[in-house]
Amino acid sequence: MKPTQKDSNFLPIEATDYVEFYVGNAKQSAYYFCNAWGMMPYAYCGPETGVRDRVSYVVKQDKIVLVLTSSLVNGNDIAKHVAKHGDGVKVLALRVPDATKAWKETTKRGAKSYLKPSTLKSKKEGKVIVSGIQLYGDTVHTFVERKNYSGVFLPNYEVWTAHCIKLQDVGLQVIDHCVANVGWNKMNKWVSFYEKIMGFKNIITFDDNDISTEYTALMSKVMSNGNGYIKFPINEPAKGKKKSQIEEYLDFYYGEGIQHLALSTNNIIETVAQLKSRGVDFLSVPDSYYQSLLQRVGTIDESIESLKKYDILVDRDDEGYLLQIFTKPIGHRPTVFFEIIQRKGAKSFGKGNFKALFEAIEREQAKRGNL
Ligand code: FE2
Repeated sequence: MKPTQKDSNFLPIEATDYVEFYVGNAKQSAYYFCNAWGMMPYAYCGPETGVRDRVSYVVKQDKIVLVLTSSLVNGNDIAKHVAKHGDGVKVLALRVPDATKAWKETTKRGAKSYLKPSTLKSKKEGKVIVSGIQLYGDTVHTFVERKNYSGVFLPNYEVWTAHCIKLQDVGLQVIDHCVANVGWNKMNKWVSFYEKIMGFKNIITFDDNDISTEYTALMSKVMSNGNGYIKFPINEPAKGKKKSQIEEYLDFYYGEGIQHLALSTNNIIETVAQLKSRGVDFLSVPDSYYQSLLQRVGTIDESIESLKKYDILVDRDDEGYLLQIFTKPIGHRPTVFFEIIQRKGAKSFGKGNFKALFEAIEREQAKRGNL
């Protein structure tokens, strides 16, 4: 089905509303994100706010909102998700002008429903309408319509103030992109899902020649919505001499899911210096990476010494350059991690760094005995 001009506007998206992780201990995860990542305590729901089966802590930095949810009961979806996947992303929530229409348009095109349009009401602050559809693995998109709501986060939430937490952000601004790992030969299925069901376009394709080292390989396609605010790269493993990092993820996550979230900053050196000093672990890059860097990327504003000090990678495309760095997995399983990215004109994803990056990942995989 080829979308018509009219069709391509069927799912207007204003922004990423939030990303929800299902985790083993939401209270401690919230403490980690506030103290290590400079997120601000924002909202809370649980028994005290009338919610009986879960607690959620919401943390925020500029436009980045993370929800950390744990189950209070045995055997519900949250508990099962954590038992199977470990800590991981359950919900990629998209802010839309009309959550009912978003659900109707996507389910009409073949999406499986996760949540029929539902109204969450607050006595004084108005209402939020949410709906949702299923994605790869156990991951979902929800659509959030909050134009008639003035309260904290969502109805049933109260302001969360954690006085013991050091309140200082680290300059993180917005979710730049969210990357999925899907199974063997499943990338095109999900590319087609985003094209047909959500009206997205495939803006960049990387094949296994672009993304391979001596040992492992993967393929990736980047899907973007019409206004370019929302970008979802989708990876699948490719054959190599040894186990692909995507296979390691799929083995330890027990299925498909979100691999990494990229968070933007306008001063990556300062942000990474802060994050490192607060205990966030990053992948390291060999000194040799920096020897030929300027020949490859041309003149840049930052000094090579400071980039080298913090293991920051650089790549250039036709429109400018970007700086990026990747954390080690943030939980106990080798699954979800974060990227920090600063764009100076470049709209791409750091193709020139893939080799150095994947070799760095392989060094960690080898330490775990999973290469
Ligand atoms: Fe990325």
